[in-house]
Amino acid sequence: MKVICPGSFDPVTHGHLDIIERSARSFDEVVVGVGRNTSKNGLFTLDDRLSMLTQACAHLPNVMVDPIDGLLAEYCRTHGVGAIVKGLRFASDFDYELQMAQMNKQLTGVETILLPTAAQWSFVSSTLVREIALMDGDVSTFVPDFVVTALKVQADHRRNEAAAPGEEATS
Ligand code: PNS
Repeated sequence: MKVICPGSFDPVTHGHLDIIERSARSFDEVVVGVGRNTSKNGLFTLDDRLSMLTQACAHLPNVMVDPIDGLLAEYCRTHGVGAIVKGLRFASDFDYELQMAQMNKQLTGVETILLPTAAQWSFVSSTLVREIALMDGDVSTFVPDFVVTALKVQADHRRNEAAAPGEEATS
């Protein structure tokens, strides 16, 4: 079966990669579906997130990375995806995911499979990683090395913008 692991991945974390890798072991094909940041305070562009995920999943031959334009349930219907796979960290994730799973099932009949996140990563979120990285904290335990580097570039960029709003950074 072909499944999809959807998310914003802003940025991709080891928690996401654990779910993607376990899906790749359990299913024939895995699409990592990258959503646009509609309601979140995003940091990386869609192109940046696609490129970081492609690099992070390069060792997984049955995984492909693709943007999701529009409804996830419609993407599944038009691309032959049999199920949506999502990670569950804690009870509040469940409330949110259950509602989305039931809505997606109602929209096109697509099933959702909820996988418990590895305990090691249960407290990790992209939102916290962004916040810590932008305040120069160490996030190297939670994301791949090349994501740490990309976060540092964004943090520097934001600092330069704050120091000289509207002007190009000189260093
Ligand atoms: O876990 P995230 O990062 O909040 O995932 C967001 C994503 C991309 C999975 C979600 O926003 C999504 O499904 N977007 C597509 C739009 C859609 O189908 N909305 C209706 C959901 S019932």
